[in-house]
Amino acid sequence: MSIKLDCEEETQETGVRSHRWFVGPVDQYDRSAAMQFTLLALLGLREHHSLLDIGCGSLRAGRLFIPYLLPGYYCGLEPERWLVEKGLETELGREIARLKQPTFSHDPNFTLTTFHRTFDFLIAQSVFSHATMSQIRRCLSQAREVMTPTSLFAATFRRGDSDYTGDEWVYPGCSTYRLETFAGMAADCGLGCTALTWPHSNGQTWVAIGDPQALSRLPPALCDPAVNTGVAELFAPVFGDSGTLPWETRLSMVRNELLEAIPPGATFALLDEDQWGMGPELAGRRRFHFPERDGHYGGPPADDRAALDELERLQRREATHLVVGWPAYWWLHQYLGLHDQLRSRHRCVLENERLIVFELRG
Ligand SMILES: C[S@@+](CC[C@H](N)C(=O)[O-])C[C@H]1O[C@@H](n2cnc3c(N)ncnc32)[C@H](O)[C@@H]1O
Repeated sequence: MSIKLDCEEETQETGVRSHRWFVGPVDQYDRSAAMQFTLLALLGLREHHSLLDIGCGSLRAGRLFIPYLLPGYYCGLEPERWLVEKGLETELGREIARLKQPTFSHDPNFTLTTFHRTFDFLIAQSVFSHATMSQIRRCLSQAREVMTPTSLFAATFRRGDSDYTGDEWVYPGCSTYRLETFAGMAADCGLGCTALTWPHSNGQTWVAIGDPQALSRLPPALCDPAVNTGVAELFAPVFGDSGTLPWETRLSMVRNELLEAIPPGATFALLDEDQWGMGPELAGRRRFHFPERDGHYGGPPADDRAALDELERLQRREATHLVVGWPAYWWLHQYLGLHDQLRSRHRCVLENERLIVFELRG
């Protein structure tokens, strides 16, 4: 399929904010692109290689990959046609698109064979972090069809203690999978899967997927946690320390920080999208979910008003603190009224790249 440069089918609000906002926190638009490009360059992407960008969105990374690759070597899959059009118009520019001839498909079912070619590299950044198991399986089995024994597929997913078993695309929230589950889905499709040590701007896990032989040639600096490459130190100013630390290490830091910030006997509402696996009590501090339904995490509110109602409800239940964990940082961009109220009416007693703690009383 070839590109269409005119925005014939744009259905969403126009403007830079909307197409950037749609694919994630706006303040990470540039950093995420830089990290995707740098990772693939380190994995060996050269200008004569072909690349399939799955869920390419508004060409956040495409605007770096397309100029770098030789004409015709970039393909993007994105069901939201308006995002691609906006990306072409405002991020890449029509002139570069004319010169570099990227190809796009808007197929909604992860039909990667639609491009009728194989790829040296594939990337799916922040796509499996919203996908169901059956979507991931479909994408991986299609990937197998368009990969050669030397192809590499770099992908992110949100690692958690449990596997998402729902059958709906989760957006803008996230689905989570255990690493073993994700690797198992790849194995079912005849593909190996190796966790990478590469940082992610939003705490997701990068994996390399491919033929086991190809994975065995990955640079140890990118996949062996025992090799200290200095990458963590290098990127600390970009992401803060947490972006480069393993999930378990971050969680143990979070527990210690909560004990420091919240006194014993207090009650805190936890907004972690049910990702941290924290019980109803933490060393003498009571924990509610935010939002809570019948004692369980209730999922993202329908809108800002519902989020504010939930906050009021918590205060009536005498919650003394609200803790926003990194898996839910996107809420602060999504529910602007809630964010504004927390910032303007409540004291923030701790804020870093892992958690934000607001005092709800006083
Ligand atoms: C969080 S955004 C990430 C976009 C892009 N990879 C980036 O880094 O900016 C997730 C993207 O996946 C796209 N998506 C949703 N369903 C999809 C599907 N079935 N196949 C491919 N992409 C899909 C969304 O429209 C959205 O653009």
